[in-house]
Amino acid sequence: MELKDVIQSRRSVTQYDPAFVIDDAILQDLFESVRLTPSSFNLQHWKFVVVRDAANKKALRAASWNQAQMEEASAVIVVCGYLRACKDAERIYSEAPPAIRDNLLPMIRKFYEGNDHLQRDEAVRSGSLAAMTLMLAASDMGLATGPIIGFDPAEVTRLVGLDDDHFPVMMVVIGKQLGESRPRAYRFPVSEFVRLETIDGEGFGVA
Ligand SMILES: Cc1cc2nc3c(=O)[nH]c(=O)nc-3n(C[C@H](O)[C@H](O)[C@H](O)COP(=O)(O)O)c2cc1C
Repeated sequence: MELKDVIQSRRSVTQYDPAFVIDDAILQDLFESVRLTPSSFNLQHWKFVVVRDAANKKALRAASWNQAQMEEASAVIVVCGYLRACKDAERIYSEAPPAIRDNLLPMIRKFYEGNDHLQRDEAVRSGSLAAMTLMLAASDMGLATGPIIGFDPAEVTRLVGLDDDHFPVMMVVIGKQLGESRPRAYRFPVSEFVRLETIDGEGFGVA
């Protein structure tokens, strides 16, 4: 599919065929796209926990406002932010030209060290971008997805065993859609959410 068609056809799906299996080959294909998501300093501040086991999905459903798609989708993917991604910088830049590495490594250290707020912001940014890659790649493969924030983060953290360096940014359910989506809900026209030069500047685009 053309990228524009993928973007236009992707919907947040809540009804799934419980019999459909997301196998390892599909997952590998999906995550090969996800790994190309951009992140600041290329630190890749994300981890994913794929939950396919029926009992584990049921437990996640209970932690997620009892939303049925948590159990009926083929997999629940917990998109985790990694708060200590800057620790990986040396490995990530180990094969970079020395001039680049010697410039960037101290810069990264200075940028992140002691700034927990920034580290969390960065993990949310990177995790969210990676989730979008995941959803678009899935759409392109004929799969349906739904991003999920309606959950108890402490309970999800416990259920999938996250340590203090990781937190759930969101979850994404994935599988085969049952039925049709409702027509897309209202979207603001471009002229209402794009401003020129400053936030109170002239609106851009056709209403
Ligand atoms: C971060 C995020 C969290 C969301 N959480 C939920 C959720 O918990 N349950 C749900 O049914 N939909 C959830 N949605 C889906 C939105 O309701 C949906 O994206 C929006 O209504 C627009 O519909 P569309 O994605 O089909 O265009 C979430 C979307 C995002 C981006």
